[in-house]
Amino acid sequence: MTKPQTFHVKSFGCQMNVYDGERMAELMAAQGLTVTDDANAADLVVLNTCHIREKATEKVYSDIGRIRKAQGQEGRAPMIAVAGCVAQAEGEEIAHRAKVDIVVGPQAYHNLPALVDKASRGELGLDTDMPVLSKFGALPARRKVGPTAFLTVQEGCDKFCTYCVVPYTRGAEISRPWAALVDEAKSLVDAGAKEITLLGQNVNAWSDGERDLGTLIRELDRIDGLARIRYTTSHPNDMTQGLIDAHRDVEKLMPFLHLPVQSGSDRVLKAMNRSHSRDSYLRILDRVREARPDIALSGDFIVGFPGETEAEFADTLSLIDAVGYSMAFSFKYSPRPGTPAADMPDQIAAEVMDERLQRLQASLNRDQAAFNAATVSRTCQVLIERKGKLPGQMLGKSPWLHSVHLMTSAQIGDLVEVEIVDAGPNSVSAVEKVRAAA
Ligand code: 5AD
Ligand code: SF4
Repeated sequence: MTKPQTFHVKSFGCQMNVYDGERMAELMAAQGLTVTDDANAADLVVLNTCHIREKATEKVYSDIGRIRKAQGQEGRAPMIAVAGCVAQAEGEEIAHRAKVDIVVGPQAYHNLPALVDKASRGELGLDTDMPVLSKFGALPARRKVGPTAFLTVQEGCDKFCTYCVVPYTRGAEISRPWAALVDEAKSLVDAGAKEITLLGQNVNAWSDGERDLGTLIRELDRIDGLARIRYTTSHPNDMTQGLIDAHRDVEKLMPFLHLPVQSGSDRVLKAMNRSHSRDSYLRILDRVREARPDIALSGDFIVGFPGETEAEFADTLSLIDAVGYSMAFSFKYSPRPGTPAADMPDQIAAEVMDERLQRLQASLNRDQAAFNAATVSRTCQVLIERKGKLPGQMLGKSPWLHSVHLMTSAQIGDLVEVEIVDAGPNSVSAVEKVRAAA
């Protein structure tokens, strides 16, 4: 196989994969390869995969088949690399099953150039080692980025919720060092970022031994040119008082918190090994709301965890009623190989899960629409992220992370002062007031 000249990275799943995909692209560009938007035209296709649910994992195999077929019709055979969490979970097996050239785990992708060389010689390029911190040291500096950028501050998980593969695919919880993060944040701002979202599987567990995420946020607050700070995704047990206080004190920290709860039933939470209760979760939200009364709340939910009864599911619905989320993600339980819940008795029938998911999403949609409607006639800033469908229309995000569309001459990356005038189920529309200085 000849050495590839062009490459394409496709990321599935979470925002950390998006971040990893960007860094892989930067790495390959630094090696002299040219990026292409078309997977069917690239010499090297990197599929940066997700293992969180069965459906996500299956996508890899169908994608590999699709790319091979499309390129084969042109008489081409691309080099295919499987990266991300499926690579970590399945290792060499995926190379045999899907006949790919490279298998590289989420903590080893800084070695991609060497693996490409190996594959060019006709050997399998395999690396699923987990030396988390060495990865970041070996990656090239950040280049040009858009107005919103991700910054991974923490990786991995030690919580071992009984349904979840992340502790196995991403490894133990580690925090990147303070100085590296402050440097990377500054270089992102120099490269054009106005908003930085700090990422981690348990981002609020970030600590360097003495300082917590709240302290890091206060430091990033001092970077000139950075307008907004966000973070995701958090665990209730790591919601420190310092971080809650940052929501009260740091203006650049946006009033939005994604705090997954998964279930509203204490019995189910215990079986999930969540190590928080329904009540302790609600009490945390009370404290956050006290610190930042206008905060928008988001969560993750799983329906149909093994043994979940109708009454326990009703507890989740009543928790949703009690919180009033501005948005949320909800999933049917998917048994994952190697996790304790996969072997639990009383797995729930597919029809029951379907029906519960529908009812859950009806509640969440109702609350999202109510949240959007309640923002009408409010004034806020919108960070313009891209062009809309109509001429002169631009799309951006409010501080509460809802999508806003407006007619404006402002450009991508501008902060615009608006009044929200109309609300739909998934977005709101606004009119421009005075243009804020960028
Ligand atoms: N089945 C369904 N949903 C899951 N999640 C994690 N593992 C599973 C699983 N086995 C969901 C959780 C988590 C989100 C990222 O994905 O809600 O917060
Ligand atoms: Fe998917 Fe979780 Fe891996 Fe992200 S960390 S890619 S959500 S399995």
